[in-house]
Amino acid sequence: MLQDGKLLIGAGEAPAFLLPKMANRHGLICGATGTGKTVTLKVMAESFSELGVPVFLADVKGDLAGCCRTGERTEAIDKRLTNLGLDPEGFVYHPFPVRFWDVFGEMGHPVRTTVSEMGAALLARLLDLTEVQTGVLSIVFRVADDKGWLLLDLKDLRAMVAYVAEHAQELTTEYGNVSKQSAGAIQRALLQLEDAGGELFFGEPEIQLTDWFQCDEKGRGYINVLHCEKLYRSPLLYSTFLLWLLAELFEQLPEAGDPEKPKLVFFFDEAHLLFKGAPKALVEKVEQVVKLIRSKGVGVYFITQQPSDVPDAVLAQLGNKVQHALRAYTPNEQKAVRAAADGFRPNPSFDTRQAILDLGTGEALVSFLDEKGRPSVVERATILPPQSMMGPIDDKRREAEIHYDELYGKYETAVDNESAYEIIHADQQKEAEAAAQAEAEKLARKEQEQAEKEAAKARKEAEKAEKARQAKRKNSAASKVANSAMNAVGREIGRSFTRGLLGTLKKWF
Ligand SMILES: Nc1ncnc2c1ncn2[C@@H]1O[C@H](COP(=O)(O)OP(=O)(O)OP(=O)(O)O)[C@@H](O)[C@H]1O
Ligand SMILES: [Mg+2]
Repeated sequence: MLQDGKLLIGAGEAPAFLLPKMANRHGLICGATGTGKTVTLKVMAESFSELGVPVFLADVKGDLAGCCRTGERTEAIDKRLTNLGLDPEGFVYHPFPVRFWDVFGEMGHPVRTTVSEMGAALLARLLDLTEVQTGVLSIVFRVADDKGWLLLDLKDLRAMVAYVAEHAQELTTEYGNVSKQSAGAIQRALLQLEDAGGELFFGEPEIQLTDWFQCDEKGRGYINVLHCEKLYRSPLLYSTFLLWLLAELFEQLPEAGDPEKPKLVFFFDEAHLLFKGAPKALVEKVEQVVKLIRSKGVGVYFITQQPSDVPDAVLAQLGNKVQHALRAYTPNEQKAVRAAADGFRPNPSFDTRQAILDLGTGEALVSFLDEKGRPSVVERATILPPQSMMGPIDDKRREAEIHYDELYGKYETAVDNESAYEIIHADQQKEAEAAAQAEAEKLARKEQEQAEKEAAKARKEAEKAEKARQAKRKNSAASKVANSAMNAVGREIGRSFTRGLLGTLKKWF
């Protein structure tokens, strides 16, 4: 809610204002579960929207989606408003302009980027590659670049890593050494990222960040809700997303100096996920980007259970703080409460540590930066109720919101343009086809030779047979003559023998 151009977040002894000019100095919302962190985030997001500042928030439980619906007046809220010194009758409930996004493309417009946009350095950090593997990955990117092959999705990158590993020998002189082990390690890390849903995040059409910087026709900033219920179960992808986003914004936005109000404000719920178990290099990168992005007019707010969930170097950058109640049953919890209390400028009228334990739901210790950028003395405040609906919306409503959004259709269908994978694949196919053709030709040649051999053999045999036939024919002609001569002689001999014999016989009788 705005009052005198300032963001009214709550009130205690005095109203607690977040100053638009100081809103890019980042912030932190902490508290045990159920103490009111998400509602505080919502109240802040609504105020930014009203101020004409677009907001981007990670909705981990789906309970921020209600921003697109009118809030409901209840007795408890009336009481809260009265405590805040506001007239419940005059409090206006209304929806805010909301846009839904989802890396998985199910509960909002898909959010994608390309592998080359992400770049070798960021990817290497994200995949927690060693120095040598990082070197190999940058060779992969350079070879793709030199060949003019686009790296759009993860299958492009995997095909490219395989290509570089296969052609390592030819590439060594120009680009450096590529060992099979390093390539294998990169492939394994990429598979892990793919399993986490990376194949949906990398691709086209890629998100145009300007779509997150829009205001509606009334000049209210859009509340861009990134549906994270699924995403936050893949910390690797969640941190990839955050890091890419911050780095991209940092690169694309011009220096803004100290603007009167931020250009965009980010809220990252369940921020402990970003840092827990994250590679050291990744945490360092977040620190660095958070430090630098302020001058581009972007405010980043982390929401988590206790300040110690955020690395000290990042914590030191967060100027605006809202601390909801913490429990202190175990020694570790007591330590966390002490640490949280020590992060505030004490207020002589109460004990910060005790107050953190005593706070009720929707109550908090707040300290925002003053006009000069100094943290104000800590105040105990009741947080305002939101003007839009608290809690989730049903799927039908969400679908309608997505469909009637003017951006609908811009990102919904993934496009698989020709890139490294297709080119390498086509080359391999060509090679395979050429090899198959060469094999077929070889076979045909062999068959022809064989056929020719057989034909020659058949010819020879035919000739031989012919010769034999002729010889036989000759022989038989000669023998016929001989035979007939013989027959004549034989007949004569026979006849004279018979006659002789008869003659003799005649003689005897
Ligand atoms: N400022 C507020 N105005 C009205 N109701 C509030 C406010 N803060 C908290 N509540 C009530 O307390 C409930 C819990 O708050 P919320 O969901 O913000 O807690 P949380 O700290 O985000 O919890 P979790 O860690 O489980 O996400 C809300 O659903 C709402 O009913
Ligand atoms: Mg919450």
